Amino acid sequence: MTSPIKPDALSRRRFLGGAAVAGLASTGLARAEAGKPDPRITEVQDWNRYLGEGVDKRPYGTPSRFEKHVVRRDVSWLTASPESSVNFTPLHELDGIITPSGLCFERHHGGIADIDPADHRLMLHGLVDKPLVFTMDDIRRMPRENRVHFLECAANSGMEWRGAQLNGCQFTHGMVHNVMYTGVPLKVLLAEAGLKPNAKWLMLEGADSSGMNRSLPLEKALDDVLIAFAMNGEALRPEQGYPLRAVIPGWEGNLWVKWLRRIEVGDMPWQAREETSKYTDLLADGRSRRFTFIMDAKSVVTNPSPQAPLKHKGRNVLSGLAWSGRGTIKRVDVTLDGGRNWQHARIDGPVLEKSLTRFYVDFDWNGHDLLIQSRAMDSTGYVQPTKDELRKVRGANSIYHNNGIQTWHVKANGETENVEIG
Ligand code: MTE
Ligand code: CO
Repeated sequence: MTSPIKPDALSRRRFLGGAAVAGLASTGLARAEAGKPDPRITEVQDWNRYLGEGVDKRPYGTPSRFEKHVVRRDVSWLTASPESSVNFTPLHELDGIITPSGLCFERHHGGIADIDPADHRLMLHGLVDKPLVFTMDDIRRMPRENRVHFLECAANSGMEWRGAQLNGCQFTHGMVHNVMYTGVPLKVLLAEAGLKPNAKWLMLEGADSSGMNRSLPLEKALDDVLIAFAMNGEALRPEQGYPLRAVIPGWEGNLWVKWLRRIEVGDMPWQAREETSKYTDLLADGRSRRFTFIMDAKSVVTNPSPQAPLKHKGRNVLSGLAWSGRGTIKRVDVTLDGGRNWQHARIDGPVLEKSLTRFYVDFDWNGHDLLIQSRAMDSTGYVQPTKDELRKVRGANSIYHNNGIQTWHVKANGETENVEIG
């Protein structure tokens, strides 16, 4: 075919191309070769030649077929069965602060309950004046709120307590997601039932086959807990507790009971399995920390990371996430040389309470080894500790609540590895 570009324009383009190559080489962005027209520009491509698919081809949209690698992944040796298991959010493939619903990590103790919302009931009883049962229709007729919050499993980074183990932030840090929830404040439901004077604790129970339950202090229930039916603007996904789940902002994911069917009000904690044999932190002297609800400030560099190595010398964007269960993220520091020099990262996008916060460092890579770390500071002034600092206080037995600073080693060829430096 004849080129739509005039010959004089072509030679001008070649000249510009040559100049651009010289200019871009230093930033590592040069791709075009001087004098060689790029067929992706000069040839008409199929997507340009033929009509595309019409509307309604996908009544519910899905990502491009070129994004098939962007999926939740599990670690096969971690658990005995997929029904009581976990998979991980591909943090290195995401940007901004909202986790797409289909990529939110899943943690189930008895598989995904398949519940027709018409059959779902939420019972509220115990130390209340008036026991109540809500249908989904009832819930949807009550005043609702929208809030963006992170959910982090207390076991996130748990495999890293005794040293660097898993190669990828998806696996080291991917038990976290951040979506906008729509739901009814729990205090509204409690006010409707009326609390007895001795009410102090609540027990939340799921309708799944594990019937998972946890005790929740009344103070928190009256503060910011939501009973949510929507995430990211649409109904909860089955994996995330459809049709109803508890949202316990800033607190460990285990408390966020999915497929929520029952709330009992009592005067002391229930001592459920999930707060006695699990989700307690065994210290070096044999004692255990219990009811360690709050997720302390934490951060991770998502790019570069083992699954997202550096590919170009020169201009690069370092990107990462920071969050705190105690409030907002005030500052994130990043080092590229294993802690000798630190710089403030550029925080971009909304900085919300108990939400993931996005940070960037725009940097030039000269091809030398890098030891990358990020360190978050929250609105209470709390600073994310090193893993050694954590181990000094908590010993080496722990699984839960590892919010230590992560190190990535970028090698000269751009490959990136999970390491620890002393
Ligand atoms: N709720 C019920 N009913 N059953 C469960 O297995 N797992 C808990 C919590 N709520 C669980 C549950 C745990 S340990 C976590 S970390 C979060 O749900 C995970 O929520 P997600 O699957 O939406 O990521
Ligand atoms: Co969990």
